[in-house]
Amino acid sequence: MLERLSKGTIPHKPHTALRGSSNELRYEECITRAGFDGPYTIAYHEHRPHEAEPVEAGHGWRIETGRPPRSLVRHHFKTFERRPRGGSALDARVPLLENDDLVLSVLAPDSEDPAYFVNADADELFFVRAGGGVLKTPLGELSFRSNDYLCLPKGLLHRFVPDAALNQDWLVIESHGAIGIPRQYRNEIGQLRMDAPYSHRDFRAPEFTGPSDEGIRKSVVKRGNVFFGFQHAHSPLDVVGWDGTYYPVAFSILDFAAKVGLVHLPPNVHATFALPGALVCSFVPRLLDFHPNAIACPYPHSSVDLDEVLYYARDNFTSRTGVGAGSISLHPAGIPHGPHPGAYEVSPGSSRTEELAVMLDCLRPLRVTAAALAISDPAYHHSFVDPGGSHSMG
Ligand SMILES: [Fe+2]
Repeated sequence: MLERLSKGTIPHKPHTALRGSSNELRYEECITRAGFDGPYTIAYHEHRPHEAEPVEAGHGWRIETGRPPRSLVRHHFKTFERRPRGGSALDARVPLLENDDLVLSVLAPDSEDPAYFVNADADELFFVRAGGGVLKTPLGELSFRSNDYLCLPKGLLHRFVPDAALNQDWLVIESHGAIGIPRQYRNEIGQLRMDAPYSHRDFRAPEFTGPSDEGIRKSVVKRGNVFFGFQHAHSPLDVVGWDGTYYPVAFSILDFAAKVGLVHLPPNVHATFALPGALVCSFVPRLLDFHPNAIACPYPHSSVDLDEVLYYARDNFTSRTGVGAGSISLHPAGIPHGPHPGAYEVSPGSSRTEELAVMLDCLRPLRVTAAALAISDPAYHHSFVDPGGSHSMG
């Protein structure tokens, strides 16, 4: 995703014979993006990687198509009040919001995946608000913990093993297009610029330890929102080496180096990941604007092209009250939004915020699923009306 890595045993040139210690031939798998024009990784398997036979899928989450909003209002989805589905990451996902570019879901897995999973529909960006564990892939194992983003490229076989001792609370964005680093953070040779809000050192790649066999022979592939099962004759984690730029990464939101200004900077200075039709921003603990009269709180605004989603990792946020860790707010385009009553007024003189939140700005209107409506706080839209404000007729 960021730089070319090379792990394990690979031949000097691609598409030439690689042999094991008994002269057995290894098998290439070229994982390519954008046809054959985009990023790619070449992995070398002990066995032919394309022999799996179709079986019943038996796993997967309930795909729910959202509906256009019945009214143009702001929402607060209390994800912490939902009835947990539990189960593995492969089964526990609950979609809440979706449009033609992406699906946003939450999940609280309490067991490890019983099968390998390939999402052939989407890149996936997880945010682990609470919990942690290990992501197992043929390219190696990637450990993750609370406050990590986990960027999992489309089509890569994997299995989540959450830490059983921890409560898990994850957000996931499935993007039909590639999730990547915003273009403005790279120099002309692709390196992260010195003024980017993170460096190459902040991104963790899988630890490669060679082939392994967990005894699992089943995989589930999601394509076109349908789950398909496959039976493998050998462990799919049979890669002896790989080389390329296509692999999962982890990045802690706490490593995001926020920028602050003399006066309030627009939220896109917190841009962290870009995807077609959407931008993911990270709001992290930081000093606030330092002009003596600065209003260190987002101003009311009409961002006329964007539906704005905020996922709160902590229960405090500069401009909002009444939200808790795990809350998700949706402020749709078409109506202005801004701080809760009192937040704007008390902000001059504030010097620091401890907020921690993930924002998703979407170009296409979001549809709300029945699961989301079931945990929507009906009082939220009205909570922005100041009961003692100048508009009051009382
Ligand atoms: Fe906003």
